[in-house]
Amino acid sequence: MTKKLLLLPGDGIGPEVTAQVSRVVSWLNDNAGLDLQVETRDFGGTAYDKFGSPLPDETRDLALSCDAVLMGAVGGPQWAKNRRALRPEAGLLGLRKAMDVYANLRPALCFDALADASTLRRDVVAGLDIMIVRELTGGVYFGEPRGIDDLPDGQRRGYDTQVYTTSEIERVCRVAFLLARGRKNKVISAEKSNVMESGVLWREVVTALQQREFPDVELEHMLADNAAMQLVKNPKQFDVLVTDNLFGDILSDEASMCTGSLGMLPSAAIGEAGKPGLYEPIHGSAPDIAGKGWANPLAAILSFEMALRWSLDRADLADRLFAAVKTALDSGARTRDLGGSLSTTEMGDAVLKALAA
Ligand code: NAD
Ligand code: IPM
Ligand code: MN
Repeated sequence: MTKKLLLLPGDGIGPEVTAQVSRVVSWLNDNAGLDLQVETRDFGGTAYDKFGSPLPDETRDLALSCDAVLMGAVGGPQWAKNRRALRPEAGLLGLRKAMDVYANLRPALCFDALADASTLRRDVVAGLDIMIVRELTGGVYFGEPRGIDDLPDGQRRGYDTQVYTTSEIERVCRVAFLLARGRKNKVISAEKSNVMESGVLWREVVTALQQREFPDVELEHMLADNAAMQLVKNPKQFDVLVTDNLFGDILSDEASMCTGSLGMLPSAAIGEAGKPGLYEPIHGSAPDIAGKGWANPLAAILSFEMALRWSLDRADLADRLFAAVKTALDSGARTRDLGGSLSTTEMGDAVLKALAA
């Protein structure tokens, strides 16, 4: 049956990396029995420039009616001074909220061929396979009140609110425990229960959930600052790492360097079963290299690999695409972020060549 993918290239290197995903989709449609129809829409700053909104209503509605959404990246200095609701990043947060994709799976996997591409020692990262589960639709990203107020003494006061409810914590941690069962059966939960009330509640709720529903899965608590340190000291102690929206954002960028580059890390944002998932590389629009043709497209291609697995019912093709990425890396294909000299398109060529082999 034909499935539908909404492609949102976005800003900066977003269109450069998603162009390589489009080539992969076409190849799989033509040669491997994939039956995927792709619709493309402007998103983020590009949509703001054309329509005055980073997330036009029609695009949001289309996202909700597709089987999966694949986003490149949004943002850039030209929109940084927009008022908050009109920033590209607000469009992305609005889309995540509208799709109710509360669990963001960010796998940090070090391909053997890239064990020397990391700034960390080979023995620290070789064989690394962590699944970070980041809460995506709550916490300080969405909490109220927030704002910047003018104070009587002429100063200004900026504030955000970190807030979590029991059910918000439970549903994302449940995803983490279920994933752990298919892996090494260990969840590390990271928060700051030593200083934050939301962290105290997080620890209580995840503990009760483990005792009630997942007594077979090992649970360890770690303060988030220690987790940041442990990720570079001994990343292989982690199997599934579950954490809130803000800590998950930071810890996943950190973990990406254990895999060789930020340009390697894909993600899948999922909600209730049967609803469309949102797939996006964890990197941003990379204004410093946008337009140069240097961006690594593998995080975007691997995000599509996750879409095949989690939303499009084609684990067989996901396995095949994953193997093609591995073959391309084994053959020495490297973009600049990985210490090589291939362009974005040439890395796409290497993956397509491996798919066809
Ligand atoms: P960034 O992730 O865009 O870039 C950080 C560094 O990593 C840069 O040096 C960049 O060149 C490099 N990099 C990122 N992706 C790469 C790739 N695929 N290949 C090679 N190198 C890559 O983060 P930033 O510079 O802090 O943010 C730039 C803009 O992107 C901001 O507007 C930010 O809000 C936005 N952003 C968007 C997303 C998203 O759309 N999901 C994620 C992060 C940041
Ligand atoms: C990410 C990004 C986003 C986030 C921004 C662009 C809203 O950094 O997906 O990691 O902070 O969630
Ligand atoms: Mn981020």
